[in-house]
Formats: sequence, structure tokens, C-alpha cells
Amino acid sequence: MMEQSSIDLWKPVKVVKLRVYKYNPKKDFFPEWKEYEIEVSRGTTILDALLRIKEEIDPSLSFRYSCGQALCGSCAMMVNGRQMLVCRTRVLEVAHNRDFIELRPLDNFSVIRDLVGDFTPFFEKHRAVKPWIIRKDVEELENPTGEYRQTIEEYARYYQFTDCLKCGACYSACPTVATDHEYLGPQALAQAYRYMVDSRDDGLDERIAIVDSDHGCWRCHFATSCSDVCPKYVDPGQGIQLLKRLIVRRKFGFRPHKPAEVLPSKIGEVKRR
Ligand code: SF4
Ligand code: SF4
Ligand code: FES
Repeated sequence: MMEQSSIDLWKPVKVVKLRVYKYNPKKDFFPEWKEYEIEVSRGTTILDALLRIKEEIDPSLSFRYSCGQALCGSCAMMVNGRQMLVCRTRVLEVAHNRDFIELRPLDNFSVIRDLVGDFTPFFEKHRAVKPWIIRKDVEELENPTGEYRQTIEEYARYYQFTDCLKCGACYSACPTVATDHEYLGPQALAQAYRYMVDSRDDGLDERIAIVDSDHGCWRCHFATSCSDVCPKYVDPGQGIQLLKRLIVRRKFGFRPHKPAEVLPSKIGEVKRR
């Protein structure tokens, strides 16, 4: 049987108005705001509310989501002017004492339809920094004989950046992205750093050539709006500053690790270092 507190979580407690940005660039001359009233409980997330509106009031309403549990990053949008994942944000949490909330697509993304932004430039920039392990030992890659080991300390260098969901919130909040559309942006730059300090990686100079460029890391003026809005508490602003330091130190010959220093061990002979 459900406990009383769980029942209370789903009991309707308030009618809230969702003021939603509606725009189909293929046929509308300009965007408009549409308002939908909906009864919510303490547990209703904004995604729940949008799904209900789509099912019961306006089937044309467009938004993006997938996992529903803050894992995939696809449901980020502007909620009362701030970048948030709507699947993990409850309506009453952002409505406070008001009876409405405002939803629009992420800033810095062009609109495909309603609340759906076009992520093409964002993913192109992500790809541009080569977000994968680069190695020169092709023979080992093609015919692996073991694992590339890493110590806890080596892992700790980049660990926080592995939490990135590619939700676009940081990119949307960045004032440099807003004024320089070619700027690589906080997500891609932080990911470049993540791979450059990974002890398994041998692509340091290859990536420096990409990020130490006109639209690369030096355009960041460290306002950290990116880090403020990250729903996974990644700190891309810090990643970019560490990246700048790495580039400067590299000019004096520094390397965070010897290239390809981690030697493969025999499969099945896993020993702790
Ligand atoms: S760093 Fe954070 S805000 Fe930026 S894309 Fe990754 S998860 Fe989203
Ligand atoms: S710290 Fe850099 S990347 Fe982050 S919001 Fe500011 S300018 Fe953009
Ligand atoms: S739906 Fe996946 S993060 Fe919100």
C-alpha cells in the first residue's frame, strides 16, 4: 500500500499557467506565446505538465525529451529565463508563489519548432575537439592484448567532465557564444581538456592546434555563467581556465603525462597498481 506521504505528492494542489513559446519557422511569420492552464501536484515535473498539455490540450506542442531522469540531456530549456532540465524540475519549485511559469527554447540555439532548438552547431563543435582517446599504437588498437590502466589520481584529473550530458545549458548561458557564433563554447572546450589530461590519450598537440585558435579558449572571459547553470555540477568554466594553463605550460615543454605511457596488460591478468 502507498504511504500517505507518497499519496500527498501526487494530490493536485494548484492550478498553474504555463506560458509557452510557440513558433514554427516553416510557416509562422513570428513567434507567439500560448498559455495553458494545468492542475499540478507537488510531484508534477515540468516535463509531466508538457506531456499532459500535449496529450489533452494541444497535440501540436513540440519539445524534446528522452530519459525522463536527468540522464540524456535532451530536455533542457529556458524556465523563467534560466537553463534547466525540465524532467527533473518540479512545476511548484519554479512557480514559487506565482501562478505561472514561462518556457522558451534554449538561448543561443536557433529554433526548429516551439521549445526544440537546433543542436547541429553545438555537436559539430563537440566533434571538432576530437572527443575520443587518440593513440598512436595502431597495432595494439586493432589487435588489443590488454587494458590501458589508470591510477585513481590520473582518473581524478578529468573525472568531473565525464558527467557532461551534452544538454547545451552551458552553451546557452555563455555570453561569448551569443556574440561569436564560431566560438567553440564551454562544453566542447571542457571536453577537449578532459581528453588532453587523460593518461591514456596521445592527442595533446593535435587538440591544442584546435583550441588555441581565434575562436578557441582565449575568447572565454571566465564569467562562469556556464558553470552556474550546469545541471550535473560540471564546471566547464574551470575546465577552460585549466586548458589555458595547459597550453601555456606546453609552450615551455610541459606534458601532463608521457604519451601512451600506459602499457597494456595481459587480458585476464588484472592486478591493482
Ligand atoms: S557541461 Fe553541463 S551544462 Fe554543459 S552540456 Fe555538459 S552537462 Fe550540460
Ligand atoms: S566562463 Fe567562458 S565559456 Fe563559460 S560562460 Fe563565461 S565566457 Fe562562456
Ligand atoms: S529527458 Fe533526459 S535529461 Fe531530461
